Amino acid sequence: MPVRSRIIGVGSYLPTKILTNHDLEREVDTSDEWILDRTGIRERRIASEEEATSDLAFNAAKEALKGAGIKPEDLDFIIVATVTPDMLFPSSACLVQQRLGVKGIFAFDISAACSGFIYAISVADQYIRSGIHRTGLVIGADTFSRVVDWTDRNTCVLFGDGAGAVVLQADYNGRGIISTHLYSDGTLWDFLYIPGGGSRIPPGEEMVKKRLQYVKMRGNETFKVAVNTMSEAIGEALKSNGLTSADIKLFIPHQANLRIIQAVGKRLNIPMERFKINLDRYGNTSAASIPIALYEAVMEGEIKEDDYILLEAFGGGLTWGSALIRW
Ligand code: COA
Repeated sequence: MPVRSRIIGVGSYLPTKILTNHDLEREVDTSDEWILDRTGIRERRIASEEEATSDLAFNAAKEALKGAGIKPEDLDFIIVATVTPDMLFPSSACLVQQRLGVKGIFAFDISAACSGFIYAISVADQYIRSGIHRTGLVIGADTFSRVVDWTDRNTCVLFGDGAGAVVLQADYNGRGIISTHLYSDGTLWDFLYIPGGGSRIPPGEEMVKKRLQYVKMRGNETFKVAVNTMSEAIGEALKSNGLTSADIKLFIPHQANLRIIQAVGKRLNIPMERFKINLDRYGNTSAASIPIALYEAVMEGEIKEDDYILLEAFGGGLTWGSALIRW
């Protein structure tokens, strides 16, 4: 059997503070009914003042390591997928490494917005398949509450904070990541982005005055592209492995909007029961959404040994992708 990267531990962390749609009614001109009807979201989690992305990531990582039954010293590398790092640099992965107290391994962040976790496990998979490394920690973590404009009803109702983590390890029994499929289209970069705070529009008075430190989104257009790209990513993963949707026990999509997932299901003729959904409780947690949903599916016994599961995401960049896993 060829070497594959198997998920040997999963973890997740969600801040305790809950922000409901009713709470949002007091902040912006919106309603519980509108948000639920257009997105499927009821509530989301918000990081405490003391928490930043690496804290959420660290907590999810600790649980994944415990589940895997390994110590931080057994890791060869740490990858964090995030677009809301604690600081522009160092990477949040290095901060997690410090909290875990491991030296002599490498750690870095991946920036692919809501597709970040798929990108990160794809990269990790290459290290493991090539035989260069044996065990890696991959985390998806984002704190969008710090970068959404809480006066903009078009975006603030959609996002939440959280982190999910997996430990990947070389395995020779046919289980693990079968294939990953990554795509991006930089011409659509302005569908979803944060203009300020980088080298183009550095932090300063002008940035703050124009509220450029916050997420900007072309919601309607993003919706359409999301349906197309997620469908394409699922189709490619199935086709390249000679499978049909009937072979997949559980689809774990990026949790952006229930209507996007419903549209993908309709297009590909996949019943909704086969999609893992938790966005009603957490909203869109960006790179964390897939590993949190995976964690819940595992904990709730929805996936058994040898089942095929298919992860699929889209996000800013634009980026999209899928990962077929034999559990
Ligand atoms: N509460 C009440 N009304 C709102 C609102 C809110 N929170 N947000 C927008 N509206 C209003 C709009 O202003 C618009 O009003 P108008 O017709 O008077 O101009 C109306 O609702 C319809 O807006 P529209 O954008 O057509 O709604 P929609 O059904 O497309 O839903 C999104 C909007 C953002 C929920 C949807 O487009 C979406 O989910 N897009 C994808 C976003 C996404 O997934 N981003 C993350 C990618 S990883």
